[in-house]
Amino acid sequence: MTKPQIWIAAFLTLFIVLFLLQKLTEKKKTPQKPNIVMKSESQKAETPEGLIASLGCITCHRADLTGTNNGPSLKNIKQYWSRENLINYLRNPAANMSGDRFDEYKKKYPNFFMPSFGNVDVKKLGKIADYLLK
Ligand code: HEC
Repeated sequence: MTKPQIWIAAFLTLFIVLFLLQKLTEKKKTPQKPNIVMKSESQKAETPEGLIASLGCITCHRADLTGTNNGPSLKNIKQYWSRENLINYLRNPAANMSGDRFDEYKKKYPNFFMPSFGNVDVKKLGKIADYLLK
């Protein structure tokens, strides 16, 4: 081989090596798994159970919603609420307490009160309401 031919061969090899390297690193940079995982996690949080857990309702109402020392049971509240009233209550509990049981709640949970969730998307509160009134 003449000198120019060697140079050309060397450049070609270099080019091929760089090309292959680029292909290899390209593959490593595009795993789509993290996206898929995030999607399923946010979808999980969109279920009523997921929302109730992520908004912290379970710290006072317990995971099975039967109540704790900090808050009453949310079982069988269907008899007290329409969907709309319940959503209003979640958005602003202080202004939407209705019924004698709230006087009892005040005595029973003197150090805890239902926080307002007015900053939460109404659609999410709707999902929770549907779930609680099921
Ligand atoms: C800091 C504790 C606490 C958290 C967190 C909390 N609650 Fe409450 N909740 C209470 C208390 C205490 C009451 C009783 C009313 C009162 O004293 O304000 C109550 C009352 C309620 C009621 C009315 C029950 C009835 O008899 O009609 C509903 C419904 C309710 N909570 C749903 C929720 C939901 C849904 C969440 C989460 C988005 C939540 N709560 C988060 C403490 C809490």
